[in-house]
Amino acid sequence: MHKKKGNMASRTAKTRTKKKSTGKKAKVVTPVSPEGIENVISIPNLVTNVALLNLTEEVSNLRQQQRSICEQAIRSILHALDCKDHYTFGHSLRVTYYSLKLGEEYGLKPEELYDLEVAALFHDIGKIAVPDKVLLKPARLDEEEFLIMKSHPSKSAEILEGFEPFKEAAQFAKHHHERYDGRGYPDSMKGQDIPLFSRIILIADTFDAMTSTRPYRKGLPYEVAFSELDEFSGSQFDPELVKHFISVMKKEEAKKEPTFQLSIIEGDWEKDAA
Ligand SMILES: [Fe+2]
Repeated sequence: MHKKKGNMASRTAKTRTKKKSTGKKAKVVTPVSPEGIENVISIPNLVTNVALLNLTEEVSNLRQQQRSICEQAIRSILHALDCKDHYTFGHSLRVTYYSLKLGEEYGLKPEELYDLEVAALFHDIGKIAVPDKVLLKPARLDEEEFLIMKSHPSKSAEILEGFEPFKEAAQFAKHHHERYDGRGYPDSMKGQDIPLFSRIILIADTFDAMTSTRPYRKGLPYEVAFSELDEFSGSQFDPELVKHFISVMKKEEAKKEPTFQLSIIEGDWEKDAA
């Protein structure tokens, strides 16, 4: 104990001596020029900037990795849908293509289009929960079967909402059968209260249901489907979106391209379901 005190006293004495000598030297130092001060200050700034750049790059790499993992999950889940019902799988891809065309025409930004692509790909994923005898029935559904079929948007949401990156898509899928006049399901939402992406997907979904050929009936020509959309514009569909959809699909039809591409699911996909 005594020894320690002695050491502390001698260290304090040394420090005092040092301080005195530093004080003397400071008097003879030439004043630092403003440029010099700037250089001295910029070194820690530079270190901070480099650290920030590294952090930004790291965050961007992590985002990229997260997106890649999510896309693998999307492809796996859609593969499950393809195993359950090949028609619904193809329908989901075509609905995504139509939704993206409408989204582009409406002026959505690239990030919004990406989110729309995810939501549209997943909109009918809840059909996995619909029994085959109802889902694959090659005829009109009776009342009870129709009730079972109507559960699919809520089932889509249930399947998706447990995985954080799909939470938003879950809500868009849940409401893709809401009608503009409030007579849709599951929540009877009305007009602009219905999420924009759900309103877009509903138009794309209905258009594909009308134009795709099934074993028991031939798909309608685009022109007939356009007039159907027009007729239910304002009651079933958002009228502004219907106008944009018809306009962009007329341009698409004129291109006469038999296939389309998506960003998440690679490949040249047939426009014609037949
Ligand atoms: Fe649906």
